[in-house]
Amino acid sequence: QENRRARLLAVNKEAAKFFYYQLRTPAGEIGRRYLRKRELSEETMHKFGLGFAGKNGAGLVQYLRGKGFADEEIQGAGLAGNSEKYGLMSQFWNRVMYPIQDIHSRVIGFGGRVMGDGEPKYLNSPETPVFDKRRNLYGLNYARRARSSNIILCEGYMDVIAMHQAGFTQAVASLGTAFTEEQAALLRRYTETVLLAYDSDGAGVKAALRAIGILRNAGLTGRVINMQPYKDPDEFMKALGREAFEERIRQAENSFFFEIRILEGQFNMEDPEEKTKFHREIAGKLCEFSEEVERENYLQAAADKYFIGVDNLRKLVTSQAVRT
Ligand code: UTP
Ligand code: MN
Ligand code: MN
Ligand code: MN
Ligand code: MN
Repeated sequence: QENRRARLLAVNKEAAKFFYYQLRTPAGEIGRRYLRKRELSEETMHKFGLGFAGKNGAGLVQYLRGKGFADEEIQGAGLAGNSEKYGLMSQFWNRVMYPIQDIHSRVIGFGGRVMGDGEPKYLNSPETPVFDKRRNLYGLNYARRARSSNIILCEGYMDVIAMHQAGFTQAVASLGTAFTEEQAALLRRYTETVLLAYDSDGAGVKAALRAIGILRNAGLTGRVINMQPYKDPDEFMKALGREAFEERIRQAENSFFFEIRILEGQFNMEDPEEKTKFHREIAGKLCEFSEEVERENYLQAAADKYFIGVDNLRKLVTSQAVRT
């Protein structure tokens, strides 16, 4: 109910304050060093309310109890868990903390990163009545106010932060889970064009393919930013900087051609059998365009790009359209 939600938001807000101040104490120096090593400015750390969870797991609990929160509320927010031996202890231990905010900038949960190697790399708050991972996007509270015709969708917290620091304040990321229909509907309120800036590894490509379908179903235009030879937007930005990224935005690939290009890599074009299968795949994708003019435009472009006769490709599309 409403009161429960308000209490969970309040306890999250206090926890964010606690972590924020911890980062600025001598014990938090190790966290500041980590964030500086990742080239974040003081201003950026402040903007995103970054914090630190120290090695004293009882500190957070004591602080929150002192602020009038019941153990049950602290636990309900996913901030602490009960241990047989020590009682209520912070879930987050020796990590730099990223508060996750909703579009109204209310803290709804946290991501905590290990400083260095370790598992899990990011520990996230569990879902609670105020933290619905499917319906929120990291950074959207800022991105919705960015004066930009597009929104840039990244994979990670650090990507969003690096992008904002470089001036791309329209960057957002999903919350340690795959991009959802609900998130697409949310983005639809602010933009028509979503630029995918996912990681360049296999997992990133797979995630981009999924996201493209979701964006299309939501009526959004998707384009794909090429991050090569870097792993993700954070690393790209560190290596090449803002202007190079702006150039990548200008060159962002139409999502249909991205899909076809990925497909192309799965077939051996020397083999007529496989080549035919590839052409059938293209035709299948073309069938997904319900508007005739759009389909024809893509058909002509695909035929041109992949050296297929326009009429042959059209025949393939027609025969597939009949079957479906
Ligand atoms: P990545 O593994 O690509 O990490 O996960 P990253 O964002 O590049 O992180 P850095 O640069 O090494 O710090 C992308 C996103 O997936 C979620 C997080 O939201 C992360 O930002 N994730 C990843 C988790 O929730 N838990 C994990 O253990 C790893
Ligand atoms: Mn508001
Ligand atoms: Mn990744
Ligand atoms: Mn990454
Ligand atoms: Mn990264």
